[in-house]
Amino acid sequence: MRASAYRFSGRGRRLAARCSATEPASAGTGGDEKKVRSKIPKAPARSVRAHLQGVPLDHIVKVPKAGVGLASDGTQTAHGLNYHHAQNAGGEGYYFYMPTVSLMGPGALKKAVRDMGGRGLGKVLVVTDRVLREIGALSSLTDLLDEHGIAYEVFDEITPNPTSAQVMAGVEAVERLGCEGVVSFGGGSPHDCAKGIALVCANGGHIKDYEGENKSAKKMLPMVAVNTTAGTASEMTRFCIVTDEERHVKMAIVDWHVTPDVAVDDPELMVGMPPGLTAATGMDALTHAIEAYVSTASTPITDACALHAIKLISRYLRTAVRDGEDLRARDMMSYAEFLAGMAFNSASLGYVHAMAHQLGGFYDLPHGVCNAVLLPVVQLKNAEHVPDLFLDLAEAMGIEGLGEAGGLGVAERAREIVIRAIRQLSRDVGIPENLEALGVRREDFEVLAENAMKDACGMTNPFQPTKEEVVEMFEEAYAQKH
Ligand SMILES: [Fe+2]
Repeated sequence: MRASAYRFSGRGRRLAARCSATEPASAGTGGDEKKVRSKIPKAPARSVRAHLQGVPLDHIVKVPKAGVGLASDGTQTAHGLNYHHAQNAGGEGYYFYMPTVSLMGPGALKKAVRDMGGRGLGKVLVVTDRVLREIGALSSLTDLLDEHGIAYEVFDEITPNPTSAQVMAGVEAVERLGCEGVVSFGGGSPHDCAKGIALVCANGGHIKDYEGENKSAKKMLPMVAVNTTAGTASEMTRFCIVTDEERHVKMAIVDWHVTPDVAVDDPELMVGMPPGLTAATGMDALTHAIEAYVSTASTPITDACALHAIKLISRYLRTAVRDGEDLRARDMMSYAEFLAGMAFNSASLGYVHAMAHQLGGFYDLPHGVCNAVLLPVVQLKNAEHVPDLFLDLAEAMGIEGLGEAGGLGVAERAREIVIRAIRQLSRDVGIPENLEALGVRREDFEVLAENAMKDACGMTNPFQPTKEEVVEMFEEAYAQKH
């Protein structure tokens, strides 16, 4: 749920600048739209077998509709037929959270800013980080605010891990400047800080008062979240992560009142992301989707979101990393991270995030990279507990069918192929192969495991590991090879 600031490449900056001009390449605007669309390559074929190099062909065979058949009928078949958790837990139903309005696709920012005037946002605080302002990326937003006569002040004091002091400084700025709402611009950090600012402005007190779940009484100030990465989904979730610099802990504020009113996912703002950040945030999104799918709190709605996110990421992440200006790949990854956000916003996550949070806190490592390294190890263990769900994951990743061969059952073969496909995707997009390569120290595993077991994300993992098992997973992630 976290991304860091990034620098736009020269080519990306030029395209971003062109897209923020008075005639952006938004749908239905004619010439520019056609020019951009003409450069978009056709979608790859449905199968991603080409990406599964090394998978023996006899591991990819059709399953007859009769018999097992779980992976042959489209999405959420294993879940739909054989839920692994108690349905309607507690007899009081399930929540499903989502933003009120979302704007997607090329040119979405233009429409979002035009709408702001109609939402009573006369003056807003723009919350971003200094890098995005200095490289000129922010002008794609501020130019539109100027054009539509919306007054604003820029608050660019946000760091990759926003602190409670930054939130409270933003609260002071809103009150001093008389702002009626906040607009975040960037990745997870500006969004989370803006959520904290808007929440305290509406409810009073200090951001630390709201640590935990649903501690606020009122909806936060109006907030529009303009997203520039494809991974955290903070622009549309009810999660807000803020560092308490006195206790040196990341506070999790999980509150439906911090769900932004409007989420803007305009892929033209994402073309400047460098390959490393594209890969890390994309693998974060894949982790959100997989963890939400196997979560004990999943529902048919979150399942549908998770599986389609996995499909899109499996098909488009490589292209987005290889050619950042491929607008179709950026667009599809934008939808994918949003879908993954829709899934985990309600189904929550699992032990990949519980463990990755500790690595991020201890070593200040990129969240998405930690997730990517841990993902195959934790899912290999999960597959022992919910094997049927891996049939659907395999299909979502592009495997058209699975049959029994080589002494393995269908579910075991699905697990084998899913884990192999995750490792191969990580390798293809340049993720380091293990924790040793990230500089993690084995002597820290005991403490990391203890802390991981306290992380709320682990509560919805399909099995609850012992501390020894968590240490074992860290050990495996330390030594694994792609
Ligand atoms: Fe995440």
